[in-house]
Amino acid sequence: MKVAVLGAAGGIGQALALLLKLDLPENSELSLYDVAPVTPGVAKDLSHIPTSVKVTGFGGDDATPALEGADVVLISAGVARKPGMDRSDLFNINAGIIKNLVGVVAKVAPEACIGIITNPVNTTVAIAAEVLKAAGVYNKNKLFGITTLDVIRAEEFIADLKGLPAEHVRVNVIGGHSGTTILPVLSQVQGVAFTDQEVIDLTERIQNAGTEVVNAKAGGGSATLSMARAASVFGVRLVQALLGKQGIIQNAYVDGGNSCSPFFTQPLLLGINGIERVLPFGELSEFEEKKKEEMLEVLHNDIQLGIDFVANN
Ligand SMILES: NC(=O)c1ccc[n+]([C@@H]2O[C@H](COP(=O)([O-])OP(=O)(O)OC[C@H]3O[C@@H](n4cnc5c(N)ncnc54)[C@H](O)[C@@H]3O)[C@@H](O)[C@H]2O)c1
Repeated sequence: MKVAVLGAAGGIGQALALLLKLDLPENSELSLYDVAPVTPGVAKDLSHIPTSVKVTGFGGDDATPALEGADVVLISAGVARKPGMDRSDLFNINAGIIKNLVGVVAKVAPEACIGIITNPVNTTVAIAAEVLKAAGVYNKNKLFGITTLDVIRAEEFIADLKGLPAEHVRVNVIGGHSGTTILPVLSQVQGVAFTDQEVIDLTERIQNAGTEVVNAKAGGGSATLSMARAASVFGVRLVQALLGKQGIIQNAYVDGGNSCSPFFTQPLLLGINGIERVLPFGELSEFEEKKKEEMLEVLHNDIQLGIDFVANN
């Protein structure tokens, strides 16, 4: 399996590349690309770590050499949030970056699974889908908005609140990947009871967790290390599924034929062709059902913004 990381010299990209060097299956290839000229050096640095994963790095204006033969492409290229910005403030810069990079993926690695990290994910995934459709290579089973960070945050916050080992907590987070569109389904968490107030507070904390990091970094960017961990978990599990490992379930923001929204974060059974089956998100409590209904207009607008961006550019 060959995994390409686009944006590999950034805060997320470098940490993600390190984790993939350590955790990808034996003899995988890791290909790093970023416009920053340091990128071949990042690859050289990683190549001194003794694992069987082979790393190469490419800088410059053209992602083509990094993408040749890629099975999975993870994209974190773009700009990150500063205090006072929300994810939609990133739109103008990141929309163009995603449109261009996915255009190159469509030409060079049209069969690859694409995982988008670049925000605003609710919109950048819709942009990617439109670009792939225009190139005639769209496969909805191979395009993912990576929302795993919402899941690992939810698991950690619940474990912390209830004094549990985080690895024993599983949370289904559905919807989208910004503010109120992030909906942790706390009513489905096994073996943990929450008061109504805990549900309200935890839901809000999970929805605003990215802003906690943005504010704490005080102008130095947004979540990078936890995001890299989240993307490496998703990327490694996707690679394992592509290689034939059975029973791998991950949540991601996909074009899943969901009646709520054209793109929706929900559980997916992964397989050798990407998404093998979109799984139902299950029963919601009254509180969650209300939150889901309230988010849909935001989600629809975010998606339409992406569709319009490609139509007008
Ligand atoms: N999905 C999530 O849960 C999540 C979480 C945190 C951050 N993010 C997003 O991830 C993105 C990256 O964040 P970061 O902290 O790594 O930012 P960063 O600024 O540290 O890194 C971004 C990298 O992208 C590179 N880049 C810019 N344009 C490029 C292009 N056209 N081709 C290739 N590389 C290009 C830059 O040179 C830089 O190295 C941001 O959009 C951020 O909002 C997503």
